[in-house]
Amino acid sequence: MLISCSVDKLDCNKMGLLRPRTVYILTAQQHLVYHRQDSKPPLHRNIGGIMSHFHSGKNGAPVPENFRLEEITLAPDLKDGEVLVRTLYLSVDPYMRCRMNEDTGADYLTPWQISKCVDGGGVGVIDSSRCNNFAAGDVVISFNWPWQTHAVMTGSDLQKVDPQLVDGHLSYFLGAVGITGLTALLGIREKGHITKGANHTMVVSGAAGACGSIAGQIGRLDGCVRVVGICGSDQKCKAIVEDLGFSTAINYHLEDVPTKLKESCPDGIDVYFDNVGGAISDAVIAQMNNGSHIILCGQISQYNKDVPYPPPLSEETQKNLQSKNITRERFTVLNYMSKADAALCELSQWIKSGRIKVLETVVNGIENMGDAFCSMMKGGNIGKQIIKISH
Ligand SMILES: NC(=O)c1ccc[n+]([C@@H]2O[C@H](COP(=O)([O-])OP(=O)(O)OC[C@H]3O[C@@H](n4cnc5c(N)ncnc54)[C@H](OP(=O)(O)O)[C@@H]3O)[C@@H](O)[C@H]2O)c1
Repeated sequence: MLISCSVDKLDCNKMGLLRPRTVYILTAQQHLVYHRQDSKPPLHRNIGGIMSHFHSGKNGAPVPENFRLEEITLAPDLKDGEVLVRTLYLSVDPYMRCRMNEDTGADYLTPWQISKCVDGGGVGVIDSSRCNNFAAGDVVISFNWPWQTHAVMTGSDLQKVDPQLVDGHLSYFLGAVGITGLTALLGIREKGHITKGANHTMVVSGAAGACGSIAGQIGRLDGCVRVVGICGSDQKCKAIVEDLGFSTAINYHLEDVPTKLKESCPDGIDVYFDNVGGAISDAVIAQMNNGSHIILCGQISQYNKDVPYPPPLSEETQKNLQSKNITRERFTVLNYMSKADAALCELSQWIKSGRIKVLETVVNGIENMGDAFCSMMKGGNIGKQIIKISH
């Protein structure tokens, strides 16, 4: 099933009618003002722009004005090893918030540079190629796809993918049959310790998002008898219970999370897929069983704050972890890419057979990338937030 919340500010078709080699790109307008506590001070040239919008060291939510749309002209000829790609779909993801800081807090993430084209996950099609590995018409993906309608890329930055794996739903390569699906599956398998027949109860925070919506379904398929999702609206609660088969859902904006967890998890909590951190996670951890396991996937509730990753836990939560011998190891999907091919096949089969359902929120047009990113960071998405760039 595909939930599609379209924002049709501009007809995508028009993007396909651009003059050849004239492309629109999105650039980072400014870094946010604050940086992580352990970071170096921002470069001097960034300070002016930064200070005009944010207060140093305080909650800095990204705003669409952090991005600017520009028209550029691509070089007319490809060099050896290069391809011209047409962008089909782009992804916006929470880790991008870290790329808006001078210090991203992770070795594998580089900061977005002011006035340079922004990049992230993308899928597209080869228009023309001077690289032996690719031919016109090939569908390709990259983690470093420039936010451009067309781009000249080097073949080594691209991976060819088989559209049959996703039954032609090419945007799934950015979500359920891509990095977020892998995060859910490998996170559970590596850190969740779900045992079939052990009547495990699983709780998922950020449960209606890209990772969370897949994680809860995998928890059920892997043998949990109860899967409880925590998310930010009644519409999301309804979707994960009625469409995805979660046992119960808790709207953390309206309901008392500890009380609802007690009602929903009468035998305590054995596995916690943590996407959000903060007060929600404190409440979950307080009700976890002895010897239970946390999949430390992400801590989005803290990403707009000036704290290191993973953010420090309260003394009480720390005590809970120790006294109940709860595991909470950091999980980074990129450390498990040797298992990616097998995991993607498993995800693909589950989706094709209908055992996993995929939710997406699709916005049209490259000019809406900044809005879509900011909206996702505030909970505007159900399932994977996708931006459709061209047909
Ligand atoms: N470990 C890894 O390798 C890895 C890989 C990919 C992603 N991740 C992490 O996984 C998490 C989910 O990523 P995703 O791509 O699937 O994003 P997503 O869940 O699709 O989108 C982000 C969601 O976070 C929720 N949120 C935002 N602020 C919140 C807050 N203060 N408190 C509680 N919830 C909040 C919103 O949903 P609500 O309406 O429910 O608030 C929003 O829809 C992120 O923490 C991300 O960093 C980790």
